[in-house]
Amino acid sequence: MKILIFGKGYMGGRCASVWGEEAVHSEVFVHSVEDALNEIRRVQPDAVLNAAGVRGKPNVDWCEDHQRETIRGNTLLPILLSEACQEAGVYLLHMGSGCIFYGDSHHEDRAWREHDHGNPIPVYSRSKWAADLVLSTLPNVGIARIRMPIDWKPAPDNLIDKLARYPKVIDVENSVTIVDDMVDVFHQLMAQRASGVFHVTNPGTVKHREILELYRELVDPSHSCEWIGNDDLVAQGLATKGRSNNFLASDNLVNVGIHMRPAKESLRDTMERYAWEKRGGGGCGDSCGCSH
Ligand SMILES: NC(=O)c1ccc[n+]([C@@H]2O[C@H](COP(=O)([O-])OP(=O)(O)OC[C@H]3O[C@@H](n4cnc5c(N)ncnc54)[C@H](OP(=O)(O)O)[C@@H]3O)[C@@H](O)[C@H]2O)c1
Repeated sequence: MKILIFGKGYMGGRCASVWGEEAVHSEVFVHSVEDALNEIRRVQPDAVLNAAGVRGKPNVDWCEDHQRETIRGNTLLPILLSEACQEAGVYLLHMGSGCIFYGDSHHEDRAWREHDHGNPIPVYSRSKWAADLVLSTLPNVGIARIRMPIDWKPAPDNLIDKLARYPKVIDVENSVTIVDDMVDVFHQLMAQRASGVFHVTNPGTVKHREILELYRELVDPSHSCEWIGNDDLVAQGLATKGRSNNFLASDNLVNVGIHMRPAKESLRDTMERYAWEKRGGGGCGDSCGCSH
């Protein structure tokens, strides 16, 4: 399978390094349908992954007063890419976010289903939900929503690194996405050309406390932090808008025969390798496909 990836950031980079020669990582910054179509005609891919977007730097609060850049990257860009893919007859897998949901769903188990309507508050989440709303009407398009990526590879946006560097951490529980498993699921979705919305989150939920307990056990026994309530984040001026915390159900993945490892099991494996990388690793990088 030949995959054309748009977006040279964290997620696009991780997918490209695992897929190796199967992937062509576009250098083009897309401003128009033509830009995307030219790339698709040049590469002739079997599938396109949209890993491009605007998450805000240093964090998502940046989007609150950069609405136009955020809408351009998270709403307009997916529409341009989907238009180009429809025109070329190529399958598109678009990266969505589970942070379009705030709090508990109305379902008994409190988890949000793929067909539930989002209830986003911040600019970032609203721009992501807007793209989901329109792209989900198209054939030959998959929307893969991820949540709080957890990775063996140390990186500023890896949830392990984020939690470990915050002096104050909110005491919450969430659905999460283990990056290794996500990359594998994306590949399977593209191979199937699976249409619709998919919650690419590992079954079960994980507390921030559990992640940091494992971090202390396997990486740094001297780590400490102050625990605060979710509402304290804004009340103490640590964030402009409250963060999304939620549980996601992945019924649609199961319906297409794709299964992810349980979150807690995958988290331990990931933290073990993360610890090994922090100690210096083996210098194999992540492109060789080895199981270090
Ligand atoms: N990382 C997470 O925690 C997370 C969680 C849920 C969902 N997601 C979604 O996953 C996707 C990828 O996230 P990420 O973490 O990889 O973000 P990232 O590291 O910020 O990378 C996004 C990349 O997209 C590029 N980009 C923006 N507009 C573009 C355009 N018009 N044409 C081509 N490239 C463009 C950016 O380039 P510049 O830097 O040059 O602008 C950047 O390299 C996003 O849609 C995000 O919403 C991420």
